[in-house]
Amino acid sequence: MQNLIISTERLQITTFDITMANSVHLNSLEEDIRMFVPDEVFETEQEAKDTITFLIESYKNTKGPFVYPILLKTGENIGYVQAVPIDDEWEVGYHIAKKYTSKGYASEALKHFIPYIMDKLGINQIWGICRSDNIASIKVLGKCAFKLVYAGIGDYRGNNHQICKYLYKV
Ligand SMILES: CC(C)(COP(=O)(O)OP(=O)(O)OC[C@H]1O[C@@H](n2cnc3c(N)ncnc32)[C@H](O)[C@@H]1OP(=O)(O)O)[C@@H](O)C(=O)NCCC(=O)NCCS
Repeated sequence: MQNLIISTERLQITTFDITMANSVHLNSLEEDIRMFVPDEVFETEQEAKDTITFLIESYKNTKGPFVYPILLKTGENIGYVQAVPIDDEWEVGYHIAKKYTSKGYASEALKHFIPYIMDKLGINQIWGICRSDNIASIKVLGKCAFKLVYAGIGDYRGNNHQICKYLYKV
C-alpha cells in the first residue's frame, strides 16, 4: 500500500513500493536523464528494484535521500521529486518522463513538495542546482520562487560544468 504524502490538482506524490521497479527503470532510460542526471539511470529492472529498496529504507532515517514518486491521478508513475543531503544542507531534484513534460507537472509537484519537505526536515532554505544548459529545469526553479545565487563553473555530479545554483528561502 502506497503512502500518499501530497495530493495536488492533477498529481499524487507518494512513497515508493517495489511494484514500481518497472516504471522507474523505463522512465530512467530517457535521453534527458542520461544527459542531466546520469547517476539516476537504471539499466535493468533489478537495478531499479535495489534502489527502491534502499529508498524505502531511507524513509525511516533522518539522513535521506528522500525520494517520492509522482503519479497521475490514474496511477501512472510519471517521475519523482526528491530532497538529497549536500554537506550540511539539502537540495531538491525532480524528473518527469519525456512524454509528460511541458505540462507544468514538475512545477506543480515541486511547489507542493517544498513546504512538505522543509517542514519535515526542519529547514528554512533549500538548494536547486542544475547545469546552465538545462533550460527546463531552470524554468521550473524560477516558477517555484527559487532565486539565482551563483552562475559559473562548478562541480556537477563529479564533473566540472557551467552550473546555476538557486536557493529557496522561507
Ligand atoms: C526538468 C523537468 C523535470 C521539467 O519537467 P516539466 O514537467 O516539463 O516542467 P514544467 O512543465 O513544470 O516546466 C518546464 C518549462 O520548461 C519548458 N521546457 C521543457 N523542455 C524544454 C527544453 N528542452 N528547452 C526549453 N524549454 C523547455 C516547458 O515548456 C516549460 O515552460 P513554461 O514554464 O514556459 O511552461 C524535465 O524536463 C526532466 O525531467 N528533465 C530531465 C531530468 C532533469 O533534468 N532534472 C533536473 C535536474 S537539475
